Amino acid sequence: MSINAKTKLCCIIGNPVEHSLSPLMHNAGYKALGLNFVYMAFQISDVANAIAGIRALGIHGTSVTVPHKLTVMKYLDEIDETAKAIGAVNTIINDQAKLTGTNTDYEGAIRALEEKTKIEEKRVTVVGAGGAARAIAFGLKQKKAKIKIINRTKERAQALAKEVRAEHGDLTDLSQIKNSDILIHATITGMHPDNKSLVPKEYLHKNLVVFDVVYNPRETKLINDAKKAGCQIVYGYKMLLYQAVAQFELFTGVKAPVEVMEEALLKGLAKHE
Ligand SMILES: NC(=O)c1ccc[n+]([C@@H]2O[C@H](COP(=O)([O-])OP(=O)(O)OC[C@H]3O[C@@H](n4cnc5c(N)ncnc54)[C@H](OP(=O)(O)O)[C@@H]3O)[C@@H](O)[C@H]2O)c1
Repeated sequence: MSINAKTKLCCIIGNPVEHSLSPLMHNAGYKALGLNFVYMAFQISDVANAIAGIRALGIHGTSVTVPHKLTVMKYLDEIDETAKAIGAVNTIINDQAKLTGTNTDYEGAIRALEEKTKIEEKRVTVVGAGGAARAIAFGLKQKKAKIKIINRTKERAQALAKEVRAEHGDLTDLSQIKNSDILIHATITGMHPDNKSLVPKEYLHKNLVVFDVVYNPRETKLINDAKKAGCQIVYGYKMLLYQAVAQFELFTGVKAPVEVMEEALLKGLAKHE
């Protein structure tokens, strides 16, 4: 499909943004379905003017990434209940200049997890209390999981735990993973080039599902340790994929070609590793 006067523009705003894999996934999806859409990446620091630009130019759908997920909220016309509960917006829909913020990160995480396991009533340890952990914890709460939040800074674990009615602890409490059904790692530990894991191998067991939200590299130290311990694995890239799939469907109104988007994502990731 060539770009013409009817082409709808979607984009991602962030800073930095040049390593984003979202343009690859969305554009591959548009191409596969022959949709007259194009998706660009904009590195921005002036959020107020970027939002004014989105409104004025009629940019159809916008993904929002670090560090703007909180800042954008005050410039939007409406924030849906999910994004309000999570306290962050990763998606903006432009309906005739009315901008609504939502959040697809939690949906991405839950869909990735549910490919491997039921969540209801499961004992879930979440390591981390930052943005990714927050979105996931709210998804887990909706699914009625029994949640424990563990974080380096205990106060942050406590604050998040209070919001999602979970237990909390700090990194000295990791041994309780031995009694968990699901472990979700959501800190920056293990991101390329740091080949480390916060989780001692001896706490991993074969009845544990291990979800590492870190997606670069795909095979983190935690994932490798978990494979050796016989755990079921959920890769971080699956969350990235499914949050984009949810955005694609919001932006275009049609079912996303998941396999095409996954292939584009994995090709892009392979170049980064
Ligand atoms: N797969 C996906 O789709 C997806 C989506 C979003 C994010 N992510 C990944 O999730 C990870 C976290 O991102 P985020 O946005 O949540 O970041 P964030 O908001 O900055 O939170 C960072 C988290 O990491 C912890 N942390 C940082 N350094 C640590 C260390 N040396 N030891 C132990 N804990 C440490 C922080 O603990 P303190 O509170 O103690 O500082 C906090 O819990 C990143 O790897 C990111 O790439 C993946």
